[in-house]
This record gives sequence, C-alpha cells and structure tokens, in this order.
Amino acid sequence: MRSHSVSAEGGTAAVLFQEEGDNEESHIYDTIKGSDFLADQDVAERLVKTMPLEIYQLDHWGMPWSRRLDGRIDQRKFGGYSFPRATYAQDKVGFYEMQTLYDTCLKYENIEFYNEWFCTSILHDNKTFAGVTAIEMKSGDFVVFKAPAGIICTGGAGRIYSFSTYSYSSTPDGLDMAYRAGLGLKDMEFVQFHPTGILPSGILVTEGARGEGGYLVNSDGERFMKKYAPEKLELAPRDVVSRSMIREIQEGRGMVHESGAACLTLDLTHLGEETIKSKLAGIREIGIKFSGVDIVKEPIQIRPVCHYMMGGIHTNIDGSTEISGLWAAGEASCNSTHGSNRLGANSTSECLVWGRITGKLAVQYASNKDSPSINGEQVHKEEKRIYDGIFRGRGQVNPYEVRKSLTDNMDDKAYVFRDNEGLSEGIKRLSELRDMTWKHVDDRAKEYNTNFFNVMEADSMFRIAEVVLMGAYIRRESRGAHARTDYPKRDDLNFLKHTLAYYSDSQPHMAWHPVTFTRYAPVERKY
Ligand code: FUM
Repeated sequence: MRSHSVSAEGGTAAVLFQEEGDNEESHIYDTIKGSDFLADQDVAERLVKTMPLEIYQLDHWGMPWSRRLDGRIDQRKFGGYSFPRATYAQDKVGFYEMQTLYDTCLKYENIEFYNEWFCTSILHDNKTFAGVTAIEMKSGDFVVFKAPAGIICTGGAGRIYSFSTYSYSSTPDGLDMAYRAGLGLKDMEFVQFHPTGILPSGILVTEGARGEGGYLVNSDGERFMKKYAPEKLELAPRDVVSRSMIREIQEGRGMVHESGAACLTLDLTHLGEETIKSKLAGIREIGIKFSGVDIVKEPIQIRPVCHYMMGGIHTNIDGSTEISGLWAAGEASCNSTHGSNRLGANSTSECLVWGRITGKLAVQYASNKDSPSINGEQVHKEEKRIYDGIFRGRGQVNPYEVRKSLTDNMDDKAYVFRDNEGLSEGIKRLSELRDMTWKHVDDRAKEYNTNFFNVMEADSMFRIAEVVLMGAYIRRESRGAHARTDYPKRDDLNFLKHTLAYYSDSQPHMAWHPVTFTRYAPVERKY
C-alpha cells in the first residue's frame, strides 16, 4: 500500500456510455492522437477494449465509484478526450482502487505479501528469469528469491526531478534493475509535465479540477488557453497545456510565487463550495494544508510539474520483456500504449489492464516450470556491488546533496522545453556529479537502514537520468511531451520510431524500434 498509485486523483478512463454517444473507436483515436502518433495502435486498442470490464470488475469487488443520481457509475471530462470518460471516486481514485484491490487480495490465503523489502537485482541466465535479490529492510538480511516467473511493476521514476508530483519513494530502482539485467528501456525521453502542480511542493491538483470546469488564468486575468487550443481550452492534452503555460510565463504574463518560482493560477472559485466539497474535497484539503489556499475562496498558484514517464521497460503487447518468464506492467513498463504523450486517466487504466494480462500469463508460465537454478556468481557480484561499492564506499561528498543536484539538473535541462545546448550541459553535469566521491553510507546499522537505501536509490537515479537525457538528445524533433526549441516540428520521416536504451559500461547504447500502425496514419495534431 506504499505504492504511489494510492495518490492517483482524478480518474480511470473507459468507455461506459455507448448509449449516450461514446464509443471505443473514439477512445482509441483520442489515445493515438494524444500520443502524437507514437502509440503502438494494437496496444491502444487492447487498452480501450479491455477497460470497461475492469471498471465493472472493481465495482463488483467493492470500489466506491462516484455515481449519478440514477445510480449508474459517473464519468467526468478529462484532457484530450472527445467524451467524458474518466471514471472517478471523488478525487481519490487511486486510494480507493488500491484499497479495493488490496482488500480483495486479503481474501486469498495463498497470496503472500513481502512488505518493506528492497529489491536490488534480477537473476537470469541472459535468456530466462530465475528470481531476484532483495534486502529485508527490517532485519537488513540479503536474500535470494528463486522464482520461475516475475512481473516488474515498480512504477515510474519521477523523483529524478526535484519538482515532481511523485512520492519520495518513486525512484527508478525497478527500471534500473531491468536495465542492469540487459533489458531495453524504451522512449524514456518522454516525460509528462502535468500542468497543475502546487507550489512549493509539486503536489498534484487533479486535471479533474479542470474537468469540473476550472480555469487557467495569467497575470492579465485572461483564460489564455483560448489562444493555444481554441476548441479544448483547459482540456487540451497535458503536453499542449504545459507548453502554453511556459510560453505565457516566458512572455511575461506569469506570476511569482512566494518561493520565487514563476507560476500561473488555477481558478475554481466559480464552481461553488458545494461542487468542490462533493467532487474535489481532496485537492481542497491539499490546497489548504500545503499551499495555505482554500480553493473555494481564491485561485491557487500552480506550474507544470513532472508527473509521469511514458517510457519504461520495453515489452510487447502482452507485457513480456526480452527475458522469458519476466513481464512488466504499469508505469514501469513501456508497452507503447501512450507513445510520446499519455492522456490523463489512461494510466490507472493501463495498470488494471496489464495487471490482469501479465498476471494471467505469469501464472500460466510458472505452473509449467520447475524451480529455476540460481547462478551463485551473479548473486556474489550483486553483493559486492551493493556492500563493497555502496555500503562500504569511501565517498567524502554528501550523497543527499549530490542527489539534489542531480534532480535540479533534470529540472533545469530536461523540463517542458529542451534544446541541444541544455541537454549537452545536462549530460556533462550528470557525469561530473557521478564522478564525485559520494558513494558511502554514514549509518552503519544493519536494521532498517534508510540511509543505505537512499544511497542505492541515488545510484539508480544516475543511470536512469542519463537514459532520459540521452534519449532527449538524440531525438531531434518535437513530438508529444518532448519539445525541442531547436527542432520545433515533428519529423515523421526520421523519428516516427521508439528509442531503446541498453546498458553498457560507458554510455547507454541507443537503438530504434518500429511503431505498430494498424488503423490511423499520422496527421497534424490540433485541439
Ligand atoms: O490529474 C490527475 O488526476 C491525474 C491523472 C492521471 O495522471 O492519469
């Protein structure tokens, strides 16, 4: 239950009301258009066609979906969709979804939870999965888990940015384990910046706030989105809205938050206390506690914030990785549903759909396999990496300061707009930081040594931040969430393809992978 999914706020996308005009083809097209045509179209289709089943499955397991007066499940508007399609439970969707799933798991005696373990590496023989190494946080014991099948669902890596909606635990150790095991990381340059992170913390104000009718306003009091997305306004996809906000700020129509950060405002006051209390109670509380602003009474200051990674572990449509017996699901994976820009509410959907698919496949696979044999040399190498290389490291420099410099570097050089100069500087700065002698742990305790885990997390952050920067550097075009001021146009001739990054001792080895087209040829994307 420490998964950051508990913080998902606004909705889970699905087509529920065909009788009122919605249809699956429209959800498929919205997803593909939102992705700036980089989504694998067969995967987007699988998402859309499976989703209604997931909404009703959760309903039957006790999910308290918000309802219409007639008792049917309600849906709200979200960015980039042609129909209100975000199924919601007030503004605490992830909390209720996780609770419902966890409660359901508790009904099965054969589900065992290993809470508070820190996984460090994947064991394999280059072709087949054999298990993982992990540390039990409570005792500090280093343990080998033998397993014929596994699913990586460790979430995104948004804590490689300082200004982030992610919880502090959302570091990229899961992605890094896969990367170090030789698996490809796909499309990592595509980082989603959600338009409405509050200041100074970056905590999310749900897109549901704009779905319920909220306005984005500049320092002239203008609803500026009418200039950038005349049809969809505040409900254009996130990449479009975030770019528009940064342009407003760059052109001098922003405000300055007391922390010194440039920002704009989100105005919800016209929605009235009753609507806010019934539909947006969570963000009202967040505003009061973390920004000192009651959204019922006054606009709240916000700016684009790192929120999601479209990229992840390279999988096929079934979530299978390049190692047999190992799958990946949710934000840790990149099955290419979202291409270069995800639509809000399609993420919890993806988790539900590929949780089901990979879970079934892994069980089938494991049922037909003998217990794997473990390569002792691999385990020994991993012990040396973490205990000699990190725990007993001889660093002089404060690892927390280095980690903060790393995340500030990402905020600075790989934010909403990027260019060659900034990305080159970002790559150089990252390598200067990596070369400092920061690998060491001050706390010598064996039990619950969070200092040790934090430094291992920082170690992973270096490798994954490098992949993000390298992907952004070699993708010399603007597509979806990746906006290059020096290459402002989408370039389908040269870049209508996925990036892949493989681990090597020097720099990531970068490769390309084709996009699957089944239904729609790319066209210009307008809202
Ligand atoms: O704004 C939100 O509630 C976020 C939803 C999402 O990222 O899918």
